Amino acid sequence: MSSIRFEGTGCYLPPKVLTNDDLAQMVDTSDEWIFERTGIKTRRINEGLSNAEMATRACERALCRSGVDPGDLCCLVLSTSTPDTLLPATACEVHHLMGLPEQVIAFDLNAACPGFLVALTVARGMMLQHPDKKALVVASEFYSDLLDWTDRSTCVLFGDGAGAAVLGLVEGRCFFTGGTREGAEALYAKASPRDGGDYHVVKMKGQQVFRFAVRALQDAIADLLGQSGLALGDIDHFVFHQANARIIKHVCDRLSIDPGKVFMNVRDLGNTSSASSAICLAQMDEQGLLKRGDTVLMVCFGAGLAWEGLLFEW
Ligand code: ACO
Repeated sequence: MSSIRFEGTGCYLPPKVLTNDDLAQMVDTSDEWIFERTGIKTRRINEGLSNAEMATRACERALCRSGVDPGDLCCLVLSTSTPDTLLPATACEVHHLMGLPEQVIAFDLNAACPGFLVALTVARGMMLQHPDKKALVVASEFYSDLLDWTDRSTCVLFGDGAGAAVLGLVEGRCFFTGGTREGAEALYAKASPRDGGDYHVVKMKGQQVFRFAVRALQDAIADLLGQSGLALGDIDHFVFHQANARIIKHVCDRLSIDPGKVFMNVRDLGNTSSASSAICLAQMDEQGLLKRGDTVLMVCFGAGLAWEGLLFEW
């Protein structure tokens, strides 16, 4: 079975830290409310860089750590729901900023929070067409640009950042799962004012998304274990979408997943949408937590309502 091999990872986190106490100066909220309900203490806010520039920083780090020559890339897949421009793709600007060779096809993919995992799936498919080539995958999100900073129910949840990976193909275990359920009205941001009302602002029915997330995580885990024939105890690392520590804890308690195997950064970074799982992998890699052959199970969920899961060997 052709699986993906992570040759190098990298992330970019904007230096500006916004604390819960800072938010309490802006809207009617408190550190206690935010931390108890979400597990978030701080988030990073991008100031002065475009989404493409954040993505480029993460990509350059991943490429440097991989040692892969840019001439060996077949594609640059960029996951985002906060592109700099509708046209051209933000990936094209990253391509330009990095000075990548012309033969590297660059495109964006918007699958909301599961976007990085969808991008890994797409990149694997592209490498199957070019088995001698590598793929550069990045998830980069600028949610602070998409928030209503007077809406306490959303503005406390999100942060900015980018995570990237250089991938190759390898023989090994690799299973994907995912899907889309009804509930588009539970989480959206309109692109244009043509339908009336707010646009370019995140709207969310938190409890509906919470219930969906808990269900989707459990369904995806069961499907990945069923496909692979593995048991929960065989998994070395769990990486779940960093939307809310309570969602992750709820699922871990229910399935008796060892919390020591679950990587989390939501406390420091909040929800960085599709960048969240990419940043998690980059941080785990940087901290030396991932050994070759370790089994990793990832699941992300979000607007759609959509989810995607992936089980592979590091
Ligand atoms: N500070 C203080 N009070 C608040 C805040 C705040 N920041 N936000 C909401 N409240 C109030 C509400 O107004 C409400 O008050 P009321 O009872 O007087 O009406 C009360 O707190 C309870 O609000 P709920 O929405 O019921 O709070 P809940 O416990 O559900 O927590 C939360 C809200 C954190 C958003 C939770 O529902 C959640 O995490 N949902 C999932 C979000 C998610 O996973 N998103 C992932 C996808 S993101 C993507 O795809 C882009």
